[in-house]
Amino acid sequence: MTSLPTGRAAITGASSGIGAVYAERLANRGHDLLLIARRADRLETLAAALRKAHRVNVETLLADLEDPAALAVVESRVGQPDISILVNNAGAGGLGPTANVTADQIERTIRLNVVALSRLSHAALAKFRADGRGLLVNIGSVIAHAPSPSGAVYSGSKAYVLNFTRSLQAEYKAQPGVRIQLVMPGPIRTEFFSSQGLSDSVFPDSSYLTADQLVDAAIAGAEADELVTVPSMADPATWDRLEETRLAFLSAVHAGAVAPRYLEQEAVTA
Ligand SMILES: NC(=O)c1ccc[n+]([C@@H]2O[C@H](COP(=O)([O-])OP(=O)(O)OC[C@H]3O[C@@H](n4cnc5c(N)ncnc54)[C@H](OP(=O)(O)O)[C@@H]3O)[C@@H](O)[C@H]2O)c1
Repeated sequence: MTSLPTGRAAITGASSGIGAVYAERLANRGHDLLLIARRADRLETLAAALRKAHRVNVETLLADLEDPAALAVVESRVGQPDISILVNNAGAGGLGPTANVTADQIERTIRLNVVALSRLSHAALAKFRADGRGLLVNIGSVIAHAPSPSGAVYSGSKAYVLNFTRSLQAEYKAQPGVRIQLVMPGPIRTEFFSSQGLSDSVFPDSSYLTADQLVDAAIAGAEADELVTVPSMADPATWDRLEETRLAFLSAVHAGAVAPRYLEQEAVTA
């Protein structure tokens, strides 16, 4: 078991749901916090409660991460010397079918789920690299593996989080002090659905975890030095099989030859 790096933890999307639980759990472990979101009232109420309950220093930073100027401010703060943990949690995406939304709405989701997460990862990793220590936690989703007619942008953005984070893990393999964890929640009972005008019963009731369960499992996963944490997956071999299939696919596509079925088709049409 590896303990979390000491120092201040920055958490995006800390005003509700998973981010708010991360804030409570990390404060309880003695971490100072930097809480980032748009809703000032929520952030200030949470910050005051955590200062009182856990005697830690809690800073709040109001920012709309879809806005490049606001994101630049957060980026610069996240790269400061006191930050040793970044939880890239802010995310949205209940857009529905792409035919029903504007191109601007699509872009905003990508700005939050992809651009902000990438820029903040980059800023934090530069600092962690220099220190030789730090923990980056990127919150993805199991929807990365579930292309969906009602969630093309969200599913695509979380597939990006999966590949981006897995690639970073490979890049930082030789620097074990720089830890990078991908957390992949399934359905979690938060405001995620209601705040985006979606029904809370998109999935069967029995498939939901609470944000408390999700975060406790994610922190246990980080302490176990897991690269990928899927809190609702009972058997880790399920992930191993997915990886084996992925590697088999990669090996198959490096055959250096066109598949016979396309050559047969050419012969028929010639
Ligand atoms: N709930 C699920 O079933 C589920 C499943 C898989 C993955 N996830 C992922 O888990 C993460 C957290 O979601 P949640 O379930 O905890 O939902 P949530 O309760 O709706 O929390 C979302 C958080 O993101 C912040 N946020 C949204 N847009 C923002 C913006 N433009 N700029 C800054 N902050 C923004 C919100 O704060 P403000 O509104 O105050 O800005 C809020 O704190 C997301 O990345 C989500 O994709 C959730």
